[in-house]
Amino acid sequence: MTFRRFAVVACTLFLGMLIITNGKPTEVTHAFCKIAWLVGVPCDQVNMAIVTQIKAMGSYKLGPVTPTLIQANHTSAVGQTERVNFTMMSTSISLGCLIQGCSVSEFWFSLFDNGTNYCNLHNVIQGSGLTKSLGFIEFTNEWLCLGFGLSACK
Ligand SMILES: *[C@@H]1O[C@H](CO)[C@@H](O)[C@H](O)[C@H]1NC(C)=O
Ligand SMILES: *[C@@H]1O[C@H](CO)[C@@H](O)[C@H](O)[C@H]1NC(C)=O
Ligand SMILES: *[C@@H]1O[C@H](CO)[C@@H](O)[C@H](O)[C@H]1NC(C)=O
Repeated sequence: MTFRRFAVVACTLFLGMLIITNGKPTEVTHAFCKIAWLVGVPCDQVNMAIVTQIKAMGSYKLGPVTPTLIQANHTSAVGQTERVNFTMMSTSISLGCLIQGCSVSEFWFSLFDNGTNYCNLHNVIQGSGLTKSLGFIEFTNEWLCLGFGLSACK
């Protein structure tokens, strides 16, 4: 697949997802990040991997978990809090799962978050080992994810 073709597929998928997930813009006064991932792993296993990883990371506090939604709060070193959630949807690709992650800073003054919200999401998926699963793809960009271009996750 050429890059151009890939980009078209990625964009189409994203537009589709924005519609599915209501498409309402997040409040602009809070820094936020939305990411989508496609993995060749069934959603129930994805759910388990994410929950296990969040529990293993001291900076996260796990909230309610259902088969399709995982909620948590993240507290960063400087004491800022971000609300984080992951939703899972089975794909038509056999055994695949479409994951959507969202991280929003609690305070307006963290608007320039240097990629904190991106890293909140990315570090969980990376730590869970899902980045190494078959067909793993991460989708995001600067307007869905503030600080994406700046981020160097620890
Ligand atoms: C996350 O933070 C919000 C707002 O402070 C709070 O209402 C919610 O209960 C917290 N959730 C967890 C799991 O701590
Ligand atoms: C996930 O979090 C975002 C930002 O706080 C919120 O807008 C969205 O409704 C949440 N999604 C679900 C499924 O709770
Ligand atoms: C972002 O990075 C800049 C430059 O390194 C720093 O001055 C600023 O405090 C950082 N902001 C946050 C919210 O971490």
